[in-house]
Amino acid sequence: MIRVAVAGAAGRMGQTVCAAVEGADDLSLSGRADPALNVALADVLDDADVLVDFTQPDQVLANAREAIDAGVHLVIGTTGFDLAELRSLAEAASSNVFVAPNFAIGAVLMMRFAAEASRHLDGAEIIEYHHAAKLDAPSGTAKRTAELMEGEVPIHSVRLPGIVADQDVILGGAAQTLTIRHVTTDRTSFMPGVLLAVRRVGALTESPVVGLERLLWPEE
Ligand SMILES: NC(=O)c1ccc[n+]([C@@H]2O[C@H](COP(=O)([O-])OP(=O)(O)OC[C@H]3O[C@@H](n4cnc5c(N)ncnc54)[C@H](O)[C@@H]3O)[C@@H](O)[C@H]2O)c1
Repeated sequence: MIRVAVAGAAGRMGQTVCAAVEGADDLSLSGRADPALNVALADVLDDADVLVDFTQPDQVLANAREAIDAGVHLVIGTTGFDLAELRSLAEAASSNVFVAPNFAIGAVLMMRFAAEASRHLDGAEIIEYHHAAKLDAPSGTAKRTAELMEGEVPIHSVRLPGIVADQDVILGGAAQTLTIRHVTTDRTSFMPGVLLAVRRVGALTESPVVGLERLLWPEE
């Protein structure tokens, strides 16, 4: 059994992660940390092998430091923070860190196809759509997609109620466009990726590892 604690357990993603961990035979939910539940991170680290963090951009690095100091492996889904700082924390740590801007398999495939398409068409722009309460813009997924693509790729951010997390990558060439669209209808879309990372983080041979694609296609 892998003992899993969740930081941000009262949040939209945190609640979904808690339910997914409870539904997995090989995982046990050992703690729910969240100021909204009056449970501090320090109170859940002793009983955890892995901490999953879905909190806020201004909280995640302090949480990571605490988990690393306690020797707990980390899976981070929070977006919009300084990855360079996390890298230096992780490189000095005895526990492992895995971070992904998007845990949905369809989103990882969208990024892969967009990267390939950008090598063959003349230009591209990204439109990302999220719920109105999302704190960061552009999204971590959009920034990562643009990084993987060739050329300058402008990003447009839409924030509206009624949306979970969608993205269009629109590529243009002579007399043609190609749109690669990823749509989520529910936060359970992220759970297979989160559980895969929870199961694998303890055995990583380098740290940090960034991106679900590194677990899905480890040979590349
Ligand atoms: N990587 C992915 O696939 C993916 C998918 C969806 C959302 N996200 C990201 O996950 C993060 C959370 O999103 P959300 O919609 O669940 O937000 P949310 O606001 O619903 O939940 C965040 C929770 O974190 C709690 N929190 C704040 N500071 C904390 C701390 N120091 N320790 C513990 N808990 C703390 C808050 O009280 C809140 O309950 C965001 O950064 C979002 O962009 C990532």
